Amino acid sequence: MFDVRRIREDFPIFKRHVNGRELIYFDNAATTHKPVQVINAITNFYRNHNANVHRGFHTLSQEASELFEEAHEIVARFINAYSWDEVIQVSNTTEGINLVAYTWGLRNVKEGDEIILTVMDHHSNMLPWRRLAELVGARIKYVDITDDGLLNYSQLNELITERTKIIAFPMMSNVLGTMNDIKKIVKSAHSVGAIAVADGAQWVPHAPTNVRELGIDFLAFSGHKMLGPTGVGILWGRKDLLEDLEPFKCGGETIKDVTLEGVVWHDLPWRFEAGTPNIAGMIGLGEAVKYLESIGIESILSHERSLVSYTMKKLGELEDDVEVYGSKDLSVRGGIVSFNVKGLHHHTVGKALDVFGIAVRTGGHCAHPLHYRLGINGTVRASYYLYNTLEEIDEFVRALRTIISLRDKLAKEPVEEVCTGG
Ligand SMILES: Cc1ncc(COP(=O)(O)O)c(C=O)c1O
Repeated sequence: MFDVRRIREDFPIFKRHVNGRELIYFDNAATTHKPVQVINAITNFYRNHNANVHRGFHTLSQEASELFEEAHEIVARFINAYSWDEVIQVSNTTEGINLVAYTWGLRNVKEGDEIILTVMDHHSNMLPWRRLAELVGARIKYVDITDDGLLNYSQLNELITERTKIIAFPMMSNVLGTMNDIKKIVKSAHSVGAIAVADGAQWVPHAPTNVRELGIDFLAFSGHKMLGPTGVGILWGRKDLLEDLEPFKCGGETIKDVTLEGVVWHDLPWRFEAGTPNIAGMIGLGEAVKYLESIGIESILSHERSLVSYTMKKLGELEDDVEVYGSKDLSVRGGIVSFNVKGLHHHTVGKALDVFGIAVRTGGHCAHPLHYRLGINGTVRASYYLYNTLEEIDEFVRALRTIISLRDKLAKEPVEEVCTGG
């Protein structure tokens, strides 16, 4: 039984009040909160096992190495990797994608080749590929979206050619919540011998991920968006592809031997984990994965879908005042709802919701091209996770109704043009 009350007890942050109200946290696509199990795993490491990994025969170093390697195994199991050494610890999704661009990309993409991206990509899955294209003289092509916020798959098939080397795509849009048809994209990529690089930042924390079944070639995701700490992410890659590559960053840990004349690179995954890694972070991520497994990722997805369904119904009652983006077909959506209140700037709405203790994200969500495609320059985004409740959505909609009733006054307030990093 999915018991959200019970789950919330594991998250100390929910004891907090914001502006005199119980915290309602709907900014999970940006980062998620951490259960006490993850916090304890990290403090336990520092209290009882702290040492560097792979650098000593003393007991603490052995323990730290074991815990660190075990965390790779836990993550490998979670995504059904063929083996644990295909799991590379990076700092976040962004770094994982850069790693592929600067290793596989620089080696395999040549002048005149093509890289296919989508207009719904996050900047982190757009700019590294554009940089690669600039460096080698390749061409970028973009798959558009349909009016319903889905990827235009027939256009993808028109764009793809024998020169296509990479299709990089978001498994789930961080704005529209669209869950893309990954197998369809992979099939197109492989039909011309291109690789499929999946940005799993919004998918892996919320939906079952089976890299073998999906057939993707690389997958990047972030620990902090799935109950783990910041500063740790994962790049998974097909072993035959990884084995063929030299490190992205090099230095200690990446080698088997170095002489003054040369270097023998290390085995996977260490070849790609340069320098002292984020040991506690990786152990924390392993614990986060165990926590998600104990609840069940399928149950988490269906809980989030019920929250989205309820939100759509409630926002539907406000349709004269609120514009909601993305597909009406909830079976292709995850736990994200982006919208605007007509006549109000998105930042004004976000600031006003904060007065009610409600945390949402406003702005371009690091997906500016998608917003321009929609003809807007920002949205208000509510993004859910396993600990959110229907009652919180009721509070949120009540707050929105109040904001709408104060619209004329709020519209006169100056908009703080904050740069939200997007
Ligand atoms: C779809 C998507 N890709 C990539 C990223 C980048 O994640 P990180 O900042 O953890 O590297 C995000 C973050 O919001 C995202 O939503």
